[in-house]
Amino acid sequence: MTNLPSLKDAYAKYFKIGAAVSGYHLPLFGDILKEHFNSLTCENAMKPEPIEPQRGVWNFGEADRILSFAKENGMALRAHAPVWHKQNGLWMFRNAAGETASREEILETLQQHMETFGQRYGEEIYCWDVVNEAVAHFEKDLVLRPSNWTELVGPDFVAESFRIAKKCVPDKVQLFYNDYNEWMPHKREKMLKLLRELIAEGAPIDGFGMQQHLSIYADMDEIRRSIEAYASLGLRLHVTELDVSLYTVYETGRPTITDEMLRKQYDMYVELFRIYRQYADVIDSVTTWGVADSMTWLNTSAVRIGDRKPETAPGYRMNFPLLFYADHRPRPYTEQIIEDALK
Ligand code: GLA
Repeated sequence: MTNLPSLKDAYAKYFKIGAAVSGYHLPLFGDILKEHFNSLTCENAMKPEPIEPQRGVWNFGEADRILSFAKENGMALRAHAPVWHKQNGLWMFRNAAGETASREEILETLQQHMETFGQRYGEEIYCWDVVNEAVAHFEKDLVLRPSNWTELVGPDFVAESFRIAKKCVPDKVQLFYNDYNEWMPHKREKMLKLLRELIAEGAPIDGFGMQQHLSIYADMDEIRRSIEAYASLGLRLHVTELDVSLYTVYETGRPTITDEMLRKQYDMYVELFRIYRQYADVIDSVTTWGVADSMTWLNTSAVRIGDRKPETAPGYRMNFPLLFYADHRPRPYTEQIIEDALK
């Protein structure tokens, strides 16, 4: 390690510095987490499928361990993500007779899920990504992505989820809508439409989570424009899942990593944090999706085209998208990001 102050100390006057973790990360990355981070998100442990694998059967173990680690080390906890098109319990969409549930039954089930969750964690979390990725990315003419939620509950499932969540956690817990590719103009327009509607109809939403799963080819001007647009709605902003991939999602094979790619990544991280600091009056936390480059979802998902992994996927591919090397040293841009915050 260098003599630089930690990320979290350098950024104390701007926003929280967070990481998404699973239980097994805690012993592996405890040193980095304790030194540099003051906020954690459960990577999976608080999603319905892992935490309530069957109706009424709860598996709190991993989430509890992450919470204890956070408390022991003075870190805040973000909760994530009960209403999504993935990692839901399929039981959420079935009634007691095992048939496809009605809208009312699903909303009742969601309420029971959120009540139990809220009773256990409501006092411990500072925010909750209530609805994740509801907006359609590929379907050009649709605002909402088709899912069990849209099909079985209807398009107001987003607003309903916020209303239910509000009843289940203390007022101080900020309720967030969270989504990806939020900087791409076509998706940004849909997202802004959804958020404006939610606000207009009085849904209890406090903030927007910009996932910021980026690649070195992302457009910085659009990223800045997006932050401005979301901030103009009067919502709080969190960067919730930051990583900067060296590849585009469409690249196949194992492209050679060039100095040029690493330079782009360096410039991009430095510029991103410069923008985040500029908007620190609306941004409360910046969270990376993982801790160090040895373990990132981008290593295992070799080729992703949207949510589809094609037959031709060449398997495991290394990516280096985070703030720390596999051996726990800070990446060069991380040192720069720290220095820039101290100027
Ligand atoms: C999305 C979700 C996260 C996580 C990542 C991939 O961005 O919001 O919970 O599953 O995908 O790991």
